Amino acid sequence: MTFNTDLPIIAGNWKMNGLNQSKKEIGSLLKKITNISKSNVILFPPFTIIETFAKLTENSGIFIGAQDCHHEDYGAYTSAISASMISDVNAKFVIVGHSETRTANNYTNNIIRLKAEAAHRNNLIPIVCVGESDLHRKSGDQFNFVKAQLEESLPQSTTRDNTIIAYEPIWAIGTGNTAATKDIVEMVNCIFSKLNSMKSNKKDIPRCLYGGSVNPSNSRDILSIENIGGLLVGGASLDSSQFSEIINLI
Ligand code: 13P
Repeated sequence: MTFNTDLPIIAGNWKMNGLNQSKKEIGSLLKKITNISKSNVILFPPFTIIETFAKLTENSGIFIGAQDCHHEDYGAYTSAISASMISDVNAKFVIVGHSETRTANNYTNNIIRLKAEAAHRNNLIPIVCVGESDLHRKSGDQFNFVKAQLEESLPQSTTRDNTIIAYEPIWAIGTGNTAATKDIVEMVNCIFSKLNSMKSNKKDIPRCLYGGSVNPSNSRDILSIENIGGLLVGGASLDSSQFSEIINLI
């Protein structure tokens, strides 16, 4: 089972949800997906069940990833989980720089870049999250803010094959307040013009997902936006009916 960089990506971030008993969700999800070969489906369960989920989804068409990683591979970092540990249990992806982890840990863009580099070193594909707060948007600073995040968080080694970007406006996460199509289009254009200025080769420009209150009713419109390579779904990915409905729209 290989990641197909030409297909859309539908990713589900479970955040701090999921116990061993949630493995039955994998069975129901697989039963409800009717078109598994048309997209790359990635689930990001909590660390404790990554190994179980990776085993359960082997060759099923669903990939497993982790929600964060440390920037070092090992050492005296109590409580931390490294990219090498994630790779060791057969996860293939890792989210870095999600706004919830940036805020909770005061992560700088520089740390996010080191995490993405650790992912690359350990054969994981990082999903590097960017996105402005309500305050930045209200002050009209959203484009400069996201451009600086890209400039400082993306490793030199970034290519379309080894890295994914997710635009997740903080004010849209978990609020039911999905960004308007116009706002997504404007920001995605800004992201791609910034990436074009950073990379001389088109093959090195990663794809961009949208995340923030995605659900079965709004996903078709968001997926039809030019240059949107897929979705990073939070709450709706916890429910196999809603998540499969989103996947089946592809
Ligand atoms: P919601 O879909 O619950 O808004 O979460 C989005 C998100 O943070 C995905 O990483």
